[in-house]
Amino acid sequence: MSDVTTVAIDGPAGSGKSSVSRAVARALGYAYLDTGAAYRALALACLQQGVDTADAAAAAEMARTADVRLGTDPDDYFVRVGETDVTEEIREPRVSAVVSAIARVPEVRVGLNDRFRDIVEGTAKPGIVVEGRDITTVVLPDADLRILLTASEEARIARRQAQLGDASAAVGDQLVARDRKDLAVVDFMSAAEGVTTVDSTELDFGQTVDAIVELVKKVTD
Ligand code: DC
Repeated sequence: MSDVTTVAIDGPAGSGKSSVSRAVARALGYAYLDTGAAYRALALACLQQGVDTADAAAAAEMARTADVRLGTDPDDYFVRVGETDVTEEIREPRVSAVVSAIARVPEVRVGLNDRFRDIVEGTAKPGIVVEGRDITTVVLPDADLRILLTASEEARIARRQAQLGDASAAVGDQLVARDRKDLAVVDFMSAAEGVTTVDSTELDFGQTVDAIVELVKKVTD
């Protein structure tokens, strides 16, 4: 067992997982791992290379060969494919629209999960916050703290609209459709045994970060 404190955070799209997890890591001096970014980077690589994202074998091959690099410093966060920075590009709706097809391929998941665990093992900081959909259940079921970060569908849609600067109904439709597809692969809507639910519907960003930091302190103090 390593001495690194592991914090696993799962939740649906628009729950604020990425920004909250990063702020929690920053507040605690921990590393931060955004696993969804790896799925997104693979989806983008497929789009750029004309690979059909519905072709499971092609997606698995992309997962084996693409050089996806994830920054783990919350103050110097980046996602790269090879030398190309794709931190912003992977958030585009065209990537969100196809990422679920990549994420449902078992070989893709197994390969990425091994890499996520290697990153956790190799962290030089006292702890790491890892966020995604199956971190509490599959990637790090023995994490020191496991959290399900939820919010009502209305709140999640409103946050995603604000993030994209696009208040159209299409944003909500895409979010709901993606959750439905992703739920067919992993159940990230109900807390597994031993997982603490944090409902951020009525909390602002700072309150959500504080709530999680307090939970971490309880397990580390
Ligand atoms: O958290 P996100 O929206 O950036 O995740 C992008 C996609 O990756 C999401 O649609 C589901 C998938 N994903 C997954 O299947 N497992 C994870 N651990 C993280 C993300």
